[in-house]
Amino acid sequence: MNKRFIEKKLKEVLYPGLDKDIVSLKCIKKIEPSVDKVRIEINISNESVFEQIETQISKLLENDFKFIDIAFVANQKPSINYGNTKKPNNRAPFAKNIIAVTSGKGGVGKSTVSVNLSVSLAQMGYKVGLLDADVYGPNTPRMLGLQDEKLQWNDEDKMLPCENYGIKLMSVGLTTPKSDTPLVWRSSVAISALIQFLEDVAWGELDFLVIDMPPGTGDIQLTMAQELPLTTSVIVTTPQAISTDDVSRAVMMFKDIGVPIGGIVENMSCFIAPDTGAKYDIFGSGGGEIISQRYSIPFLGSIPLTMAIRETSDAGKPAVVTDDKAQKSYYKNIAQNLLAQIGIL
Ligand SMILES: Nc1ncnc2c1ncn2[C@@H]1O[C@H](COP(=O)(O)OP(=O)(O)OP(=O)(O)O)[C@@H](O)[C@H]1O
Ligand SMILES: [Mg+2]
Repeated sequence: MNKRFIEKKLKEVLYPGLDKDIVSLKCIKKIEPSVDKVRIEINISNESVFEQIETQISKLLENDFKFIDIAFVANQKPSINYGNTKKPNNRAPFAKNIIAVTSGKGGVGKSTVSVNLSVSLAQMGYKVGLLDADVYGPNTPRMLGLQDEKLQWNDEDKMLPCENYGIKLMSVGLTTPKSDTPLVWRSSVAISALIQFLEDVAWGELDFLVIDMPPGTGDIQLTMAQELPLTTSVIVTTPQAISTDDVSRAVMMFKDIGVPIGGIVENMSCFIAPDTGAKYDIFGSGGGEIISQRYSIPFLGSIPLTMAIRETSDAGKPAVVTDDKAQKSYYKNIAQNLLAQIGIL
């Protein structure tokens, strides 16, 4: 059996989690067949999927060779160097500015803010990409009406980001068979996927790359700070005390690792009744201002809790693309304040 024939057969092996085979993705470094033996060298950046690929290949060729030697050859890309955020790598040289949207707590509105901030920047005429770094709960595709999109590749085997409302999006949610398929990945795998989303995606030139972080202060936040020269970050909070405690942790983490903080956004700051327009401070008030003063970081603005924001966002239409002037203004204001903070406006 010759090399070409083996390569043809290997096209049946799909890269785990993706709809593309290992030959097209150029994962095969070498094929060395002899009479009853074949050696195949696999070159991938994500070692943790090697076992799955190995099993698939062994099964595929078990009737053709007595001995099958499948070797993992490490990819030459620079390794992730934990502990150095002072001089981070730059895995996104295509982006002029990189903004991380984070908070110590889940469910406070990071993704909603990321999406609306990105679209606001695009509406100002900037070229914007949104990287959904929430590998385990990717909901930006739904928020942008892209949940049924499937990944496409260009001729250079780079993934193409999906686009809507003038921004480009890359999210693990676009790679799973269904938008609610759960991912059971170790954090090293999640991080490799994110690095791939930076390096192996045809983003084109961007003025802004916005990163929607997962909740917490963990590996992904740290890796992004080590692998990207973050221009600034936005910390999202809600006014409750518990939330502000968690947010304090996020602020301290970013300060500790040297990521500039562009400011704080207070989301769900009050409830505006849709029928009467009356304002209620359901979660208390002033949490954002407290954090802003305590840590001397700018206050970028607040966003009330409104049914319209939740409804339009869940329906794939961010507030800033609706006709609702009030909803739009909260995010536009925040985008402008942030640009002023980084010296662009
Ligand atoms: N100002 C708001 N008014 C009403 N609903 C909101 C507002 N902001 C966010 N939401 C809703 O709250 C829910 C959580 O928001 P979102 O997903 O943006 O939070 P998150 O911080 O990204 O969550 P996670 O930590 O799970 O990633 C969503 O259903 C969203 O539509
Ligand atoms: Mg989120």
